[in-house]
Amino acid sequence: MMDEPALAAEEDSIRSNLTKQEMFVRQFANRFLTYEGIGVLLLDSEFRIVEVSEMVCSLFGCKRTDIIDQSAEKWFDSLSLHPKPFGRSLLEGDTFRNRVMNWKLDKHNHKLMLDGEVLQDKGAIKGAFVLFRDVSHLLTLEEQIRRSDRLKTIGQIAAGTAHEIRNPLTAIKGFMQLLNKSLADRSMEKEQEFVGIVLSELERVNDLVSEFLLLSKPKEIRLVSMRVGLVLQEILPMIRNEALLHNVTVLYYPKPELAPILADKEQLKQVFLNLGKNAIEAMDGGGTLIIRDYHDPYETDKIAVEISDTGSGIDAEALEKVFDPFFTTKPQGTGLGLSVCQRIVHDLGGSIEVSSDEGGTRFIVKLPCASGTDD
Ligand SMILES: Nc1ncnc2c1ncn2[C@@H]1O[C@H](COP(=O)(O)OP(=O)(O)OP(=O)(O)O)[C@@H](O)[C@H]1O
Ligand SMILES: [Mg+2]
Repeated sequence: MMDEPALAAEEDSIRSNLTKQEMFVRQFANRFLTYEGIGVLLLDSEFRIVEVSEMVCSLFGCKRTDIIDQSAEKWFDSLSLHPKPFGRSLLEGDTFRNRVMNWKLDKHNHKLMLDGEVLQDKGAIKGAFVLFRDVSHLLTLEEQIRRSDRLKTIGQIAAGTAHEIRNPLTAIKGFMQLLNKSLADRSMEKEQEFVGIVLSELERVNDLVSEFLLLSKPKEIRLVSMRVGLVLQEILPMIRNEALLHNVTVLYYPKPELAPILADKEQLKQVFLNLGKNAIEAMDGGGTLIIRDYHDPYETDKIAVEISDTGSGIDAEALEKVFDPFFTTKPQGTGLGLSVCQRIVHDLGGSIEVSSDEGGTRFIVKLPCASGTDD
């Protein structure tokens, strides 16, 4: 091992022998190894790791010094990577572009895109390098666009159908009320009871159609500056009531210092109520519902509201469909709750995300801050 002054002297001698351009390329290479946007792995002709950048180390949760000089195969084994993202055939010229790889670290699912290229000297392959890009964010965006397209089509069909259902419904309701009155005049109590049931069932259909209409065309929204905490405080009694019936503990930590958001209060209430209701329904036999609101550390112009439960969780296949209209796993569910939430949040210029495992489910709603206003 060389001591520090010896190392510095060697660095100086290398520098003095380099041309300006070589120096520049060297600086670029050094910077590239600490750059967090793209990861790089350098391999020698024996498939051993020669150098690895900081991004790769933090992505895979390993220490640079532990993997340098190790064979790439061994490294894959230590990470339990099956199938391996690439093999020795890379050194035989089997290069690749945009190879997709899934990787999970600390409960975070990453989608990575890999490029593999060889390093040649006079036609002979001397080694290879692999570039890693984390495209998880891009794919979420793509998924959101796909979902909102699907919602739009369903919305167009829904708009027509819902009106067609509502008109006869109003007529049936009117006549039933008349019937009820004439039954009352004749003291036909048993029949009146039947009509009462028909009327309350009609009310249910009406509610469903209203929800359907909300999906199909955005109601006129009134954007007002408000504190999200106050909206949460207003619906908490309802959530606590429901939770009590299901043996669920509700935890909410108010954050009065948060910046105000721009939203429509009634619609926002509906979002949080739907999410709260789902969470409680997922905790059959009890659990904990946690509600938190905070400044989003990534999108600083947004306030995030997190609703997490210790319920049954959602499996990977269902997770892709939870926002689809009519997707439900409940015997009495309509499957419209989350699609309505998504529609509202989108209309408010926000976003909604979900993650889930055996320990429970977490929904995060992000809403734009009201800029330029203090209240
Ligand atoms: N917190 C959660 N934990 C587990 N599963 C959930 C959770 N939230 C939603 N789901 C799943 O997503 C599905 C769709 O939810 P959504 O709210 O859209 O409809 P629903 O709850 O089934 O019906 P509705 O809301 O009309 O009563 C649910 O049936 C359930 O399978
Ligand atoms: Mg629901």
